[in-house]
Formats: sequence, structure tokens, C-alpha cells
Amino acid sequence: MQIIRDIETLREAVVALKQGGKSVALVPTMGALHDGHLSLVRMGREAADHVVASIFVNPTQFGPNEDFAAYPRDEARDAALLRGEGTAILWAPDVATVYPEGHSSHIEVAELGADYCGAARPGHFDGVATIVAKLFNQVQPDVAVFGEKDWQQLAIIRRMARDLDFPVEILGAPIARDHDGLALSSRNAYLSAEERKAAAAFPAALQQAAAAIAGGADVGKALADAEAAILAGGFDSIDYIALADAESLERLQQYRPPARLLAAARIGKTRLIDNHAVNASY
Ligand code: PAF
Repeated sequence: MQIIRDIETLREAVVALKQGGKSVALVPTMGALHDGHLSLVRMGREAADHVVASIFVNPTQFGPNEDFAAYPRDEARDAALLRGEGTAILWAPDVATVYPEGHSSHIEVAELGADYCGAARPGHFDGVATIVAKLFNQVQPDVAVFGEKDWQQLAIIRRMARDLDFPVEILGAPIARDHDGLALSSRNAYLSAEERKAAAAFPAALQQAAAAIAGGADVGKALADAEAAILAGGFDSIDYIALADAESLERLQQYRPPARLLAAARIGKTRLIDNHAVNASY
């Protein structure tokens, strides 16, 4: 696996990978890799001949009071994991390479970015859309893989790729979960032992609400029950819990497929997000 930090070397290496008509999958990450990320790499390997993974803790998607400085970073460990999964290139630029002095362009996917995490984290999705567009231009992949755990992010990236005619197929990888159902996330590392135990209440409540809604229960009541169960389970607050159209993310008062339950909740100092299909196919 080549570890590359400048764009010129990256371009040459990708051209070499693509020789003979071979395809390339991009797996963008911010490092602190866990099994969820590795499942994205595996999906990339199935979808394309080679995988390029990126590690870049993107400052423009963190708010002023968020955890950019504290975000876990261990490139040597991450590189070993990526190597073990057969990754061809690790693209690991520094901030000055990605955002040179005077960088002043950004992308906003207006319609999908305002609600849910976008409301709680102003500017976050502009930062995500901008870095992902830049990664697409830098790596020029045929396929890019993102986790379904960040459902709103995935919907925004799909819309951006469509709107801006990026010649990239976007794949969503199913949420990887721990033994008790908690979605794997780099931020789970912030949980104390007690919080980690309590955190299982979050996916359990979403699963129950999704089953109730699919079974015909009143949406408002199912969401209120889920909220009560999450708080009773030890969470301090709920940022949002909503039934949404799975593609447009429009809030739904009544169930109609394709729909997805989306939620974010805070336990101690940690904000967790999760989502759940309301029927088998979405
Ligand atoms: O999901 C993430 O880890 C990040 O938002 C991404 C897509 C790598 C962009 O920085």
C-alpha cells in the first residue's frame, strides 16, 4: 500500500492503478478506523479492482465548539488496518494541501442539509460536501463507498454527485453494529463504561419504533415512545428523532415507503447518531 500526501503523486498513482481499464473505489474516512470502515473497504474491493482510502480529519466540517483538535488520530494503526484489507493507496494529505492559503470555494446542498444534523451543526454539511467533491476530483474514482450510519450525509453526497454530474457511483454500506446493537462510530471511544452500557438503549428504541411504524402504529406516538425509552435508558437529551423520506429526507407524519427513522441523542458529552430502515428494503 502506497501512502501518498501530495496531489501530483496521487494522480500518477491512480493513473497507474487504472491501466488496462481497471476500476478504482474511493473510501473516504477521517481515520480512527473501526470495523465499520473496514466493511466499506471490503465493499469497495467487491465493486472495483482497486481501493483508494483517504484519511483526512476535515476541519471545515467541525463547528467552533466541536472536537476537531481532540478527534482521535493514529495513522500508523489505521494504515496497518487498511493494508490488511488490501487497500492499494492511502491518500493522507495535510490541511495545507487540501485547503491552500486563500481557499475560498465551497459546496452547499441546500435542500437536504438544513434539517436534522444540519440544524444542530450549522455549516457541517457544507464542509462535508466540499471535501467529498474535492476528494472526487483528486482521486477520480469510479465508485465511492459511504456508511449508511450517516444517512443524511449519504443522501447529500448522492444528491451532490447527481447535481454536479460527478461520474462516480455512490454506494451505501449497511451500518456495522456492536454486539448490543450500538452503531460503530469513532465517537463511541468518548463514552465512559457506564455510558457505553446505557448507549444500547438508543438503537433498541429505534428498532422498536421502526417495527411499530411498519406495523401500522401512529408515527407521532411511536416517535414519542422511542424518545421516552432513550431518555429512560440514560441519555441526557435528544437532538431529533424523525421519520423521513429516505431520499428527499422530507419529514413524514405518516408512513409511506421509502422511509427511514433518523435520530441524534446526547449522552454525557457525546452526541451519537443512528438511523433505522422502516421496511426491509430501506
Ligand atoms: O463520514 C466521514 O468520515 C466524513 O464525513 C467524510 C465523508 C470522510 C468526509 O470528511
